[in-house]
Amino acid sequence: MRKLAAGNWKMNGSVEDLDEVTALIAAHPAPGCEMLLCPPATLLSRMAERAAGSSLMVGGQDCHAKTSGAHTGDVSAQMLKDAGATHVILGHSERRADHGESDISVRAKTIAAQAAGLTVIVCIGETEAQRNAGDTLAVIGRQLEGSLPTSLTTAPDGLVIAYEPVWAIGTGRTPTLQEVGEVHGFIRATLTKRYGEAANGLRLLYGGSVKASNAAAIFAVPHVNGALVGGASLKAADFGPIVLALAVS
Ligand code: 13P
Repeated sequence: MRKLAAGNWKMNGSVEDLDEVTALIAAHPAPGCEMLLCPPATLLSRMAERAAGSSLMVGGQDCHAKTSGAHTGDVSAQMLKDAGATHVILGHSERRADHGESDISVRAKTIAAQAAGLTVIVCIGETEAQRNAGDTLAVIGRQLEGSLPTSLTTAPDGLVIAYEPVWAIGTGRTPTLQEVGEVHGFIRATLTKRYGEAANGLRLLYGGSVKASNAAAIFAVPHVNGALVGGASLKAADFGPIVLALAVS
């Protein structure tokens, strides 16, 4: 399976920051793994133009479940594709928290985005209170159950799961490697029950305070097939070493 180094720019970035994209491509012309950046919608088409002909792919950070219509402020999966996206992140914990997104809506968006031909990165993860209560695997199980399509309608590489503990996002804190392994093993087993052998081809990303200094150790954990990186994806000098660590893992 091709490993995936994905960057989520969140609500960051303006046109001048696209020079980071140019630098990243120049430094990693053949990265040895898949390399993806997901900028805010305002930068998507311009980033796609910068990335044209390179091995960098671009993606959106959310989409609507409908193809078009009276949904002010929303963007459809088709529109992301039209802007040059190949991927979309769905169900990020910040969208679940800021916009009340439910597992049900994440599933509807996932089905819509796959129908549009996008690779979907579905995010799941427990809060600190849930982990402290010993509920991590129950929460992850529920999110997988509710957020994913009931059957695998695309090739396995069309669906990616990102495990992002909410308390590890932007905090500099990460689970222990053993905890990452426990959750990723549980996700793989749950997906295998649901989708059968094809689940072995699904990429499982870890996200939450990934940086150059911890990337190699995290990538050595079984069933970690890449990373979803926030803050450290904004600068080529920070993201590049993570991409390299994944390529050699
Ligand atoms: P940080 O890498 O900044 O912790 O963010 C992780 C994340 O939320 C990626 O989607």
